[in-house]
Amino acid sequence: VAVPRRYLDIVDLAVARGVDPGKYTQGLGAREMAVAEPGEDTVSLAATAATRALAGIDRSELGLLVVGTETGVDHSKPVASFVHGLLELPRAMRVYDTQHACYGGTAGLMTAIEWIASGAAGNRAALVICSDIARYGIHTAGEPTQGAGAIAMVIRRDPALLALDVGVTGASSTHVHDFWRPLGMREAQVDGHYSVECYLDAVATAYRGWTVQAIARGLIASPGCEQLARLCYHVPFCKMAKKAHLQVRRCDAEDDGIAFDEVAAAASFERQVAPSLPLCSRIGNVYTGSLYVGLAGLLDAQAGELADRRIGMFSYGSGCTSEFFSGVVSPRAAERIAEARLADVLAARERISIAEYERIMALT
Ligand code: COA
Repeated sequence: VAVPRRYLDIVDLAVARGVDPGKYTQGLGAREMAVAEPGEDTVSLAATAATRALAGIDRSELGLLVVGTETGVDHSKPVASFVHGLLELPRAMRVYDTQHACYGGTAGLMTAIEWIASGAAGNRAALVICSDIARYGIHTAGEPTQGAGAIAMVIRRDPALLALDVGVTGASSTHVHDFWRPLGMREAQVDGHYSVECYLDAVATAYRGWTVQAIARGLIASPGCEQLARLCYHVPFCKMAKKAHLQVRRCDAEDDGIAFDEVAAAASFERQVAPSLPLCSRIGNVYTGSLYVGLAGLLDAQAGELADRRIGMFSYGSGCTSEFFSGVVSPRAAERIAEARLADVLAARERISIAEYERIMALT
């Protein structure tokens, strides 16, 4: 995990904008927001995360590098190419970016997993990176849901963190205009409330698709997300994960032919989803990386007790495409995630003032 060196306290932002802080802290679930300065672009964040992920790993094993991003630095040359050069990775490998809003990293992950599962990879491993700067601009409704960072993942046989259930996924795609960034524009354009509706519509279809596959493969006996130890959702802002989980519970209730119990659903959220959110609440939106920031935070907090247990994951990219998938936590996960030193990464940051944040926003 890599994050910018600076962050803003979300209460400072609320006060500066004349908004009740409760709207940002309770209403959106935010605490802190990462602020990327000009030298911290998608490439540098990706390269930092990748350097950390590859510590102790033989780079000559790599045969594929994919960067999922919607904050590219060039219309043609991919972020992955810069990272490949900076890290002096092997020449004999495929190197490219994948883009579909916040789903781009998951596209890379699925490609890597299926490349390995097909046998085409032989003994080679893949490096998948999600790197983004979420920027809506100052004085916009999306301003408190900005953020930045990168996540790098090594995908190989015998994984140390999580063994994905290959081929057991549910996808949902529709052509909608909920969020976009026209060529040449720095700030994302978003129909915020509509994007929440599109996300909720997508998670219902994708989750039901996963359920059918999971039953067919014998991973679960019948519909019901209680059979998953935890669920991680794409987290554009933390409250979205709660909305998503209530939607999944609504699907379960409908499919069981029983009334939706909001109190039980809220309790299930606290148990199954809330442990993945503290890290997200301290970084903000990382677009492609947001789901995986949640996953990293969850494993950092609970990998020991989750060993050999299955977790569900939902990735959403506006526009839109999405996927619900699952995996089983490795018994070695606690040891491996400790190498990410997440507490140190966060502790090394500097809190900045609103004036400094606005100065940086004007520069980037
Ligand atoms: N105390 C506690 N909660 C408060 C509050 C207060 N004083 N004032 C408002 N709230 C709550 C609202 O009830 C709402 O909660 P709900 O969604 O559970 O109803 C929440 O805070 C947000 O308020 P809202 O008025 O909807 O905010 P907004 O219109 O300013 O914008 C977004 C919210 C998310 C639409 C906006 O930040 C945005 O566009 N973000 C970027 C797009 C995005 O992240 N989309 C997600 C899908 S990809």
